[in-house]
Parts: sequence; C-alpha cells; structure tokens
Amino acid sequence: MPSKSILITGGAGFIGSHLVRLFIKSYPDYHIYNLDALTYAGNLENLRDVEKAPNYTFIKADITNQHHLEELFQKFKFENIIHLAAESHVDRSITDPLAFVKTNIVGTLNLLNSFRDLWRSDFEGHLFYHISTDEVYGSLGEEGLFTETTPYSPNSPYSASKASSDHFVRAYGETYDLPYIISNCSNNYGPFQFPEKLIPLMINNIIEEKKLPVYGDGKYTRDWLYVEDHVKAIDMIFHNAKPGETYNIGGLNEWKNLEVIRLLCQILDRKLNREAGTSEKLINFIKDRPGHDRRYAIDSAKLKLEIGWSPAHDFKEGLEITVQWYLDNQKWLKHIISGDYRKYYKSQYSE
Ligand code: NAD
Ligand code: DAU
Repeated sequence: MPSKSILITGGAGFIGSHLVRLFIKSYPDYHIYNLDALTYAGNLENLRDVEKAPNYTFIKADITNQHHLEELFQKFKFENIIHLAAESHVDRSITDPLAFVKTNIVGTLNLLNSFRDLWRSDFEGHLFYHISTDEVYGSLGEEGLFTETTPYSPNSPYSASKASSDHFVRAYGETYDLPYIISNCSNNYGPFQFPEKLIPLMINNIIEEKKLPVYGDGKYTRDWLYVEDHVKAIDMIFHNAKPGETYNIGGLNEWKNLEVIRLLCQILDRKLNREAGTSEKLINFIKDRPGHDRRYAIDSAKLKLEIGWSPAHDFKEGLEITVQWYLDNQKWLKHIISGDYRKYYKSQYSE
C-alpha cells in the first residue's frame, strides 16, 4: 500500500511534468496519478524518462467532464490533489475567453465537488492544493511587491478565470471545511515550456533567425523563476503548510522583456558561433497585448519565513541551462511547432 496517493492534474504540461517527475523520484512510497486531457499544451514526451515508474499512473481525462471525474474519484480514491490543469496562455484567453472559463473555473469546481463528495465525512489527512498565479493581483506600478494580502484585480480573461478559481477554492474551505492551500507564483521558465510563451518563443525564433515579436515598448517587467525552484516550493508547501493558508512564490528577479530578449540573443550568438550583436537585429516591436500588465513582482517572505524555501537558481545560470536544453531537444521543439501551432502563430503574429 502506498503511504499517500496524490492526484496531480495537468501533469503533462510544463510545470506539471516537472512536479510529477520530482514526486515520482522523491517519494517512491507515494502513488502519483497524473490526470491530463492532453490539450495542445499537454505532451507525454515530457515524462518519457519516468513513465514506467511503479509508483506512477497516467489518466487521460478532461476536468470539465464532471461525470468522468466522479467515476475516477470512486475508482482511485485520490487522497490528495495538486491541481495545475489549466488553460495558461494570456494571448489565447483574449481570443477565446470561454475556453478559460470552462477549464479554469468549471474544471476547478468539478474537482472541488468530487474531492468534497469523496472525503466530506472525514477530511483529516486530505488536502486540495490549488496552483495559481501572481496575475490575479493585476499590475504593479514602478514600486512595490505583491503580498498574500494584495487585493485581487485581474486584467485578462486568463487572470480573471484563475482569480475566480482561487475564490472558489477558498469558499469551499469556508463553506464545507474542505482543507485547501493556494500558492500564487510568478513567471516560470525552463525546459519543456510550450513555445507560445516569451522565453521559448524567442529561443526558437533566434535559432531559426525569425523576427522577435516584442509587444509595445518592451519595458514590461516580469519576475522570473526557474521551474525547478517552483516545484520545490510546491513540494515544501504540500508537506509543511497548514490548510487554509496561501503563499506567494517568486525569486525577487525582475527583468524587463527587452532585457530578457537581449540576454537570449547574446547566449545564442555565443552558442551558435554567430558574430556578437547578430540576433538582436531580429528584434521587432509589434502592437501591444490588450490589457497588458506593466509589472509583476512577488514578495515571498512568508514562504521563506514559515516554510524555509528560497530559490536555488540564479537567472543567468537558469537561462543558460534552458537555452542549452532547447538546442539539445530540437526534435521535441520541432514536433510541437508543427501542425496546429503553426496556425496559432500565423493568426497571433500575422506571419
Ligand atoms: P501548461 O499550459 O504548460 O500546461 C497545462 C496542462 O493542463 C496541459 O498538460 C494540458 O493538457 C492540461 N489541461 C488543460 N486543460 C485541461 C482540461 N480541461 N482537463 C485536463 N487537463 C487539462 O501550463 P503551465 O505553464 O505548466 O501552468 C500550470 C499551472 O500553473 C496553471 O494552473 C497555471 O495557471 C499555473 N501557473 C503557471 C505559471 C507559468 O509561468 N507558466 C506561473 C504561475 C502559475
Ligand atoms: O505571472 C505568471 C504567469 O506568467 C502565468 O500565470 C501564465 O500562465 C504565464 O503564461 C505567464 O504569463 P505572461 O503573460 O507574463 O507570460 P508570457 O510568456 O505570455 O509573456 C511574458 C511577457 O512577454 C509579457 O509582458 C508579454 C511579453 N511578450 C510575450 C510574447 C509571447 C512579448 O513581448 N512578445 C511575445 O511574443
């Protein structure tokens, strides 16, 4: 008998696959169930190295299908949930907000209901851990950091759907005593990130010598965290936090988009033996993202103080590892950017 069973949703995606790998390897006595619908963003190739582990089961399912979820909860009796499955890309949420309402809000509610109905006679020893984003807090000016008490003020359909799901999780805690934790993290980067997101998109375009599409003036600021530091924080929070708590996760690592893009150009010019300055010439300013949040920055003092987490990766070192991973995994990248992604790229960037 495993000592714990954990349902990880969205485990075939970017952050989810790093989390599934960490838990399979770190906790051989747990059983890890990875439930994922394998949308355009889900890819079982992300988990090839661990898919045969004896403490792992993959389940293909859609969290918008309540009936299927109920059957699965009855069959597997998941004791704990770490919920990552979501539509995660802001630009797609601007084109198709309803898809975000369905997965991020209705899907989360379906999971909450299944979990509540299975354990409500005794929640002792069970946990619903909801993975969320700093985007729920909206945008910062030049100064200040988001804390756990910053009022929610989402500006995109994506962040509004994540904010709504956070509120439902908290409300189930208040109304049904459902034991929950929420963490809100800043921008992640690292291996296996889908190339619609800033860093892998720029890496791919630099390699292919395509234009580098910069929204607006390029001075928008993000607080970047290496994905392995995020999943380590999730591990520590899952094992040590008190139910009912929320934590912000971030590395105090703010960069303007143009600075990030220039760093990537420099790293790739060096690695590809191009003359210094070659790739920067590809920078191309384009129309801004509607509702574009100017700046995100996270205060993770609570997490550091109560749980003892701090990030292990320096940004420039993390970027080197990431760029090298994409260079070494061109097959993975080429597979992804064929097919549907081409259509998306064409309509998003008019190319
Ligand atoms: P991702 O888009 O790479 O992966 C999402 C995964 O969810 C995919 O495997 C996809 O197949 C699955 N999925 C989507 N809809 C589903 C459905 N209806 N049913 C079942 N599975 C479904 O996302 P990511 O970047 O790894 O983000 C994971 C989570 O972390 C999300 O909840 C996101 O909001 C949150 N988050 C992401 C970041 C970031 O920088 N990427 C930062 C903070 C929080
Ligand atoms: O802050 C956490 C969030 O970070 C997560 O919740 C989201 O799931 C994740 O997608 C990410 O959201 P962002 O919108 O910040 O990430 P994205 O990579 O889409 O964009 C980062 C910045 O780069 C943002 O200011 C927009 C800009 N950008 C992005 C793309 C794709 C460009 O200038 N050009 C581009 O082509």
